[in-house]
This record gives sequence, C-alpha cells and structure tokens, in this order.
Amino acid sequence: MGRVDGKVAIITGAGGGMGRAHALKLSAEGAKVLVTDVKEAGLAETVELVEAMGGSAASLHHDVQNEEAWNSVFKKVIYDFGRLDILVNNAGVYTVGNVEDCTLEQWDRVFNINARGLFMGVRGAIPLMKKAGGGSIINVSSNFALVGRPGFSIYCALKGAVRLLTKAIAAEVAEDKIRVNTLHPGLIETPMTSDLIDTPEKLDSLLGGAPLRRAAQPEEIADAVLYLASDESRFMLGSELTIDGGYHAV
Ligand SMILES: NC(=O)c1ccc[n+]([C@@H]2O[C@H](COP(=O)([O-])OP(=O)(O)OC[C@H]3O[C@@H](n4cnc5c(N)ncnc54)[C@H](O)[C@@H]3O)[C@@H](O)[C@H]2O)c1
Repeated sequence: MGRVDGKVAIITGAGGGMGRAHALKLSAEGAKVLVTDVKEAGLAETVELVEAMGGSAASLHHDVQNEEAWNSVFKKVIYDFGRLDILVNNAGVYTVGNVEDCTLEQWDRVFNINARGLFMGVRGAIPLMKKAGGGSIINVSSNFALVGRPGFSIYCALKGAVRLLTKAIAAEVAEDKIRVNTLHPGLIETPMTSDLIDTPEKLDSLLGGAPLRRAAQPEEIADAVLYLASDESRFMLGSELTIDGGYHAV
C-alpha cells in the first residue's frame, strides 16, 4: 500500500524541475495527479513518466496568475478524479538584484506568480478539501524566507509572505482537517538555478557555507512533499519544513 494511496493531488509548475519530481513521487506512492504548468511540452513528459510507472496523471495548461485558469484546474480535477486531497503550490519564478536596482515590473511579476497565484490556489482548494473530509496543502517557500539574502530582496520578501500567509490559513482551516504547511528548500539543481550555479565559484557563493556543501536533487525535496502530503504528518500544520543541507545550522 502506498503512502498516499487513493488520494488526488494537484501539483503546479510540474512541467519540469521540482514539480515533476513531486508528481512522480506522489504517483509512485499511490496518488492520482493533475499536473499543471505554462510549459505544455514539459507537462506531456511528466505525464508520460507517471504513466510509464503505472500511475494515473492528467495535465492542464495553467498560468497560476489567471483566476479563470485556476477554475478550470479545479473543474478538471473533480471531473477526472472526483476529489481533491493534496495541493502542491510549487510554480514559481525568481528575480535577482539589489533593491535600489529592482523595478516594479520585477516585483509585480514575482508576487503575481508566486504569491497571488498561490493565494488563488489555496482559496479554491479549500472547499474541495472540505468536501473530501480534509486535505494537505503544501506551499513551496524557500530557505530565503528565513534569512535576508543580499541580491534577492524581492524573492526573500515573497517567500516570507508565503510563509506567514500559510500560518494564518492553517489556523483558519484546522477544524476542517485541512493542513497547510510550508516547505523551505535550500539550493536545488533545477532549470531555475542552472544559470545561478554554472561555475564552482557561483555554486559556493549560493551555498553560503551550508555544511553539506552541495546542491540537492529535486527528488530529495519530493521526499519531504510526500511526508507533508501523507497522513504521517497529521499533527503538522502551519509548520515550516526546512531542507537545506544545513544552511540554517551555521
Ligand atoms: N531551485 C531552488 O534552488 C529552489 C530553492 C528554494 C525554493 N525554490 C522554489 O521551488 C519551486 C520550484 O522551483 P524549481 O527550482 O523547480 O524551478 P523550475 O523553474 O525548474 O520550475 C518552476 C516551474 O514553474 C513554472 N511556472 C513559471 N511561471 C508559471 C506560471 N505563471 N504559471 C504556471 N507555472 C509557472 C515553470 O514553467 C516551471 O516549470 C519554486 O516555487 C521556487 O521558488 C527553488
């Protein structure tokens, strides 16, 4: 029996990177997955990989900034799979720059995708999870929500917003047996970070002295998503799960 057998999950930003790893992990442990992204080719690959393992997957083109697109996602998950138990709000973009050089366009883009999009996801998932008798929402934040990182001020502000929004929502929906938690990955090798760590010097600088002295693979974060999605984390809500190779230990 899988650790999320019979459950149904939506994973945003699952056309590659960590979102794909989360979809594969949840599927391998028995969940049916609806994967969404703006990258259609990536989504098709994710569905193929899930099906090759014998899992059930559906996909939908979905810009998380768009309210109508979210409505379509929720309609599809009920139409295809009949319920919703797990939402992984993973889709995201980053931006770099010292604050005095950053533009309003940078701020708006990052907040519209990562915060406004995530808010619409949580708001729409709650009524469906109430009908299902409960659920787990995993909001992907970052280790940069927990410390200020020079050059990443907008991203830090954003991920900090995700962290506290999650805690407030967790308290609001606890009685409905819906658990909402944040995940705080450290440095992970994905398309998002490929330009940021393409030399040993850049990698070292971003690792910031983390004792494990390496970036992680997406699968190492998917293990944590599985834990938060499963009933094994039933006493966790409004919590922050930090997986960062020790970045915050020193
Ligand atoms: N890679 C890291 O080191 C790292 C560390 C901490 C947190 N994170 C967070 O983890 C999450 C996943 O990041 P990743 O590293 O896998 O990045 P990634 O770029 O590989 O994947 C992000 C996915 O989100 C999708 N996306 C972007 N804009 C979208 C939109 N408007 N609507 C729908 N989908 C959209 C992209 O197409 C992409 O497939 C992000 O929220 C990111 O901020 C990443």
